[in-house]
Amino acid sequence: MEVVVLPSYQEMSKAAAQVIAGVLNEKPNAVLGMATGSTPLGVYQELVKMHKAGELDFHQVTTFNLDEYVGLPKSNSQSYHYFMHENFFKHVNIAPDNIYIPSGTTKNYRAFCAWYEKRIEECGGIDVQILGIGSDGHIAFNEPGSSLSSRTRLKTLAEPTIQDNARFFDRKEDVPIYAITMGVGTILEARTLVLLANGKNKANAVAQMVEGPVTSMITASALQLHPSAKVFLDEDAAGQLKMREYYDWVMKKKPGAPQT
Ligand code: GLP
Repeated sequence: MEVVVLPSYQEMSKAAAQVIAGVLNEKPNAVLGMATGSTPLGVYQELVKMHKAGELDFHQVTTFNLDEYVGLPKSNSQSYHYFMHENFFKHVNIAPDNIYIPSGTTKNYRAFCAWYEKRIEECGGIDVQILGIGSDGHIAFNEPGSSLSSRTRLKTLAEPTIQDNARFFDRKEDVPIYAITMGVGTILEARTLVLLANGKNKANAVAQMVEGPVTSMITASALQLHPSAKVFLDEDAAGQLKMREYYDWVMKKKPGAPQT
């Protein structure tokens, strides 16, 4: 796992956007895994900026989103469909047919989830997956206790997640209690993982993800099993890391490291 700590949310977002731009420059028809929540907003803004400056082209890109609330139609302003459209898709030249987001209103969740997994495979797998982290250490909506080999499925949200996400809804009772989410196993198959975290309320989850044991109780800890996981943090989110000085040292020494 590569841990990069940057002084601000903006710099952290820029660094993560550079990784995604690098993948797109090498592979213009790359498959991107998208995330929602407030954390990746800065990355989307950076990618849109690069697109508007003529530096990034999305017309051959395919995207798969991590998750969606069950019961919210696409038009609901709290649905992840709506979020993605407003914050990213409508600002770039992506082909609407290449956008995949789990359906929160399908009649048959089991069949939908199997189809979603199959589409990821048919599109060649995800090249780079963007991730945030929940305060309980979850990735996507893989709540504590989720199997580390889980696939896309219906998941019941945990109380801390409902509480965290209540800030986006008028009332806590309005937060859906079910979601469709890619599984931890699905996420681990992406070729590169880019996880971002900012703010003090993520510091404990981040420390457990990076330096704790690999456990289904902190599903983000599964990133330790991935050969190419990059973690971008601001100072606050890095606040509880014991090996902090080493991560900085590694980054500082990287440009001069012996080449293979
Ligand atoms: C939700 C999403 C996650 C996201 C998390 C953190 O639970 N399903 O993908 O990482 O929220 O959100 P935020 O970035 O707003 O803190």
